[in-house]
Amino acid sequence: MVEVKNSWKEKGYVDEPVSADLDLSAEIRRMCKEKNAVVLAHYYTEGAVQDVADFVGDSLALAQWAAKTDADIIVMCGVHFMGETNKILCPDKKVLVCDLNAGCSLADSCDANDLKVFMDEHPGYKVVSYVNTTAAVKALTDVVVTSSNAKLVIDSFPEDEKLIFGPDKNLGNYINSVTGRNMLLWNGGCHVHGQFSLEGILQLKKEHPAAKVLVHPECPAPIQAIADRIGSTAGLLKFAIEDEATEFIVATESGILHQMTRSCPDKQFYPAPPETSEAIGCQCNECAFMRLNTLKKLYNTLKYEWPEIIVDEAVAEKAIKPINKMLEISKALK
Ligand code: 13P
Ligand code: SF4
Repeated sequence: MVEVKNSWKEKGYVDEPVSADLDLSAEIRRMCKEKNAVVLAHYYTEGAVQDVADFVGDSLALAQWAAKTDADIIVMCGVHFMGETNKILCPDKKVLVCDLNAGCSLADSCDANDLKVFMDEHPGYKVVSYVNTTAAVKALTDVVVTSSNAKLVIDSFPEDEKLIFGPDKNLGNYINSVTGRNMLLWNGGCHVHGQFSLEGILQLKKEHPAAKVLVHPECPAPIQAIADRIGSTAGLLKFAIEDEATEFIVATESGILHQMTRSCPDKQFYPAPPETSEAIGCQCNECAFMRLNTLKKLYNTLKYEWPEIIVDEAVAEKAIKPINKMLEISKALK
């Protein structure tokens, strides 16, 4: 095994040049076969990464897939908490990511020590954590949810159970509204889903009056209010495939448009515009963390089998319980 260079460690990824005429996708597939490795990719990664993956899915499907694979190596093209979830589910496998800098603003909005203080202030409450959390937060949690299964999991609690939900406040409000609960909500959010412009979406709707509006529940309530469908990435994709409409405005990270266009080549998909893209100089309907996954980094990750995700054993031992509880409840969704 090649030694990991200190300069790579500082950068958080393998920064090795690759020859311009190398067929990266073919090389990635070759190494997967040779090393009994699988590549999992979230819908928010760039199209080329999704196309080379063994499996593309939402957070729930990725966790379900990781739990059942017999590969020796899993490369998680997504963000750090997804790699951690895979490692917790598969402690004996090598779990790799393309870039250790691929974090998540939502996961960062809930520090485990702060959550512990909040829990101590609210004795008698069970804690429900969105999968977009660190392993340390999951270790404090009673059950994990994703946007695909949050309602199902919350419905599994007795009606009078006192619940804390975190970290996404918009998702928490949405789940409160569809379950009739009054969960205490952590005040966290995602920088991508919090940035969509209501005016921009309404303007797009004027230009494409037949278009249905698809909204991820991490978006704020005014955006949810104009949705024809609210759902997880997988739920929105399924709706776009099955619905009779032929045009859709999509208010979630724009990487999902790759699968939507592939699955429905005859339908039109318009990415919902972000509020201040020009002002802050970025395309904020793109998750900057997800976009750190590139074919070149994936190639180098497989070649050097680094960066590897390591989760503290004591933390993993606690965090596995709420993840398994979620997977058990979610079997009904398959
Ligand atoms: P999904 O559960 O829909 O995959 O969402 C994950 C995520 O990070 C949303 O921002
Ligand atoms: Fe996290 Fe938001 Fe990126 Fe999803 S889109 S991974 S919640 S920062």
